[in-house]
Amino acid sequence: MQALKVAMLGCGVVGTEVAARIQNRAEGLAERIGAPLELSAIVVRDASKARPGIDEKLLTTDAEAAIAGADIVVELMGGIEPARSLITAALRQGSSVVTANKALLAASYGELMSAADAAGVRLEHEAAVAGAIPIIRPVGDSLAGDRIERIMGIVNGTTNYILDQMDSEGWDFDQALTAAQGLGYAEADPTADIGGHDAAAKAAILSSLAFHAPVSIDDVHVEGIEDVTAEMVETARDQGFVIKLLAVCERVASSPAGAGLSARVYPALLDQGHALASVRGAFNAVFIEAEAAGELMFYGQGAGGAPTASAVLGDLVSVARRKVLGGRGQYERPFHEDYPILPISA
Ligand code: NAP
Ligand code: HSE
Repeated sequence: MQALKVAMLGCGVVGTEVAARIQNRAEGLAERIGAPLELSAIVVRDASKARPGIDEKLLTTDAEAAIAGADIVVELMGGIEPARSLITAALRQGSSVVTANKALLAASYGELMSAADAAGVRLEHEAAVAGAIPIIRPVGDSLAGDRIERIMGIVNGTTNYILDQMDSEGWDFDQALTAAQGLGYAEADPTADIGGHDAAAKAAILSSLAFHAPVSIDDVHVEGIEDVTAEMVETARDQGFVIKLLAVCERVASSPAGAGLSARVYPALLDQGHALASVRGAFNAVFIEAEAAGELMFYGQGAGGAPTASAVLGDLVSVARRKVLGGRGQYERPFHEDYPILPISA
């Protein structure tokens, strides 16, 4: 089978991990997909910057040339523009797109999904919410026949890490933020994290999927953690609480404005015995309450290069498989595994 050309936009914290895995695990990925992936270009701002482990011949600053002819485009540059124009151009030329860009999706979800539908291609975004945790497909697909009443969770790793380090290690806010940036958890502009806007973008995406409604980031009430002090964290702990930045998205039966949807992000006081109180470091956790399914909980690494790369690669394999299978159905998969199945007696 002919190789599928993959153009990557961005080679930072997440892009580096994705590119390395496409190169180092080429054989295994080809077996799972049924065709090899060929990394055809990696778009960056500065092509002269040293990037250990990355084939420098692939680096370019010419994004238009990079996406022309690509079967799949992986967008990991972040921000609204030029990401929006490049994704739109890729979709229109018939390339499927994988993105982790929650800021863009929260601003233009309907527009981008319509562009993908019109072109008959996929726009996958599992990495846009809660890092490695599979949450987009569960909310958007697996629970599509149920009625989701409420989603509540910790969906920003940076702020959870900061609050946790302030609580458990006695660090001050700035020390914890600097460490979170060094670990690759924070956005390029960390005010998106600490101001609650990154969590609000994720709340908008989850709400749109869960409630089948066009919820944008402007519909989300946002309070960040910038005013949370070491003294507040200590006082909360002494009284049996912990401070967590929560995202809550729910159906509201009655309010002064009537029935409707509510999405909000704010620092909340949780009892130390609450399940979300034990979510440490940059981990995320999402609770879902649905009419038929009841309560569900998802937990895992919510930020960082490798965990996020896991979600990106899952989307990449998924869209690549669709390209290989065409209309032949999802079960006709090449079934190769790295290890043989052991006899039951072993
Ligand atoms: P990052 O480290 O800042 O990397 C961004 C990359 O994109 C860099 O390689 C940069 O090039 C390139 N880039 C940015 N603007 C560009 C432009 N205008 N033209 C060409 N190249 C451009 O960001 P990241 O942490 O990997 O995040 C990437 C995306 O994943 C964002 O949408 C982010 O919200 C999302 N995400 C991140 C995480 C995480 O934990 N970090 C988790 C989930 C989702 P240079 O290298 O030359 O500067
Ligand atoms: N900056 C984000 C966070 C990255 O800290 O959660 C993952 O989306």
